[in-house]
Amino acid sequence: MDKAEALKELEDEMEDDATLPLRSEANLVFGEGNIDCDVMFIGEAPGMNEDRLKRPFVGRAGQLLDDMIRGLGWKRADVYITNIVKRRPPDNRDPLPGELSAYEPYLTKQIGIIKPKLIVTLGRFSMNYFIPEAKMTRDHGRALLVGAQAVFPVYHPAAALRSTQMMEVLRGDFKKIPDVLAGTIVPEVPPAFVPTVTADPYKKKEEKKGEGGARQPGLF
Ligand code: URA
Repeated sequence: MDKAEALKELEDEMEDDATLPLRSEANLVFGEGNIDCDVMFIGEAPGMNEDRLKRPFVGRAGQLLDDMIRGLGWKRADVYITNIVKRRPPDNRDPLPGELSAYEPYLTKQIGIIKPKLIVTLGRFSMNYFIPEAKMTRDHGRALLVGAQAVFPVYHPAAALRSTQMMEVLRGDFKKIPDVLAGTIVPEVPPAFVPTVTADPYKKKEEKKGEGGARQPGLF
């Protein structure tokens, strides 16, 4: 079976999967582009325009994505574009954990068929699919190696549309993509991210009582 056949079979399997959430409310937006691409872009979930046209990233965020891709001297048709959750959550809300976990195995299979050299994740949901501990503020624009897969997290284009500062950050990160692909930026194995120690509010109250409000030094 060739790649195109394998992807069609996967898409049909998704259409038939009665257990998938959002099935009764929205169309399946499987993904599109060059199935022999070097770079695959993965977003969060379709929005209203994507649901209507059954194509990923065709609204305002999609226009910005196209613009950024063209800025690299490529065409949209050169890359493959998809989302983790392949049906639109109502009112464009964030995907729920159960929706992510239901759709993730299909994304895993889709990546396994396409086998891109580099995956650019758009926004935190697709970044966290690869690296659950990653944080967007810290890890955007950093080439990371997850198993054998090179992954490059960037901010979601919709976030860049809301802030000029974010737009500059996204443009700067995009400029690095050809270097990651060419190997001049070498992907690093993500460090074992140290979880942030969050204060226990109940403990704090006790400390305040007993220690006159002195701050407990962090554990790390
Ligand atoms: N935002 C996404 O994450 N995906 C789309 O397809 C459109 C907007």
